[in-house]
Amino acid sequence: MYALVYISEADQLFEPSTLQALADNANRRNRLLSITGFLTYKEGQFLQYLEGGEKAVNDLMNTIQNDPRHTVIKVIKIPGQPQRYLNGWHMRYLSGLDLKSVSLDDLLAGTLNKLDSKIYSEEKVLQLVQRILIRFSRYFEDNPQAFFPPL
Ligand SMILES: Cc1cc2nc3c(=O)[nH]c(=O)nc-3n(C[C@H](O)[C@H](O)[C@H](O)COP(=O)(O)O)c2cc1C
Repeated sequence: MYALVYISEADQLFEPSTLQALADNANRRNRLLSITGFLTYKEGQFLQYLEGGEKAVNDLMNTIQNDPRHTVIKVIKIPGQPQRYLNGWHMRYLSGLDLKSVSLDDLLAGTLNKLDSKIYSEEKVLQLVQRILIRFSRYFEDNPQAFFPPL
């Protein structure tokens, strides 16, 4: 399994409905590519996590990077990803409310800040992302109905 996470700055205003539409389209495309992941948006910054085959994920990352609606700031490849964490989540938009329900909003805000700053090591950021993934996959196993059903 190959995985990466990136952050980007939005170059336009994204309303919740625009974000949901973006994720719905991504979900449809990613399903065909066996890619899973999540997308979050906070104060003009995206954090997206993608997992799947190496070529599929890198090709998609290239497409996303060329999207004029945002500017990618940093891409971090996650080394030695042991498993697919987000089975069935081809692209889930996680709203602030979703993140709050798993007490992840503070964690995510911290991750965004650390990704944005040059001070923190990639290793620290990876640890945080790993914590997010594990927290999500556990929570989702315990509460399969917690979020809206997969599309
Ligand atoms: C923040 C962000 C995340 C995106 N995530 C995905 C994604 O996971 N999968 C996908 O197919 N497109 C995603 N897109 C859209 C692609 O960049 C691109 O617009 C889409 O694949 C359609 O490309 P095309 O119109 O050139 O065919 C994302 C766009 C943005 C701005």
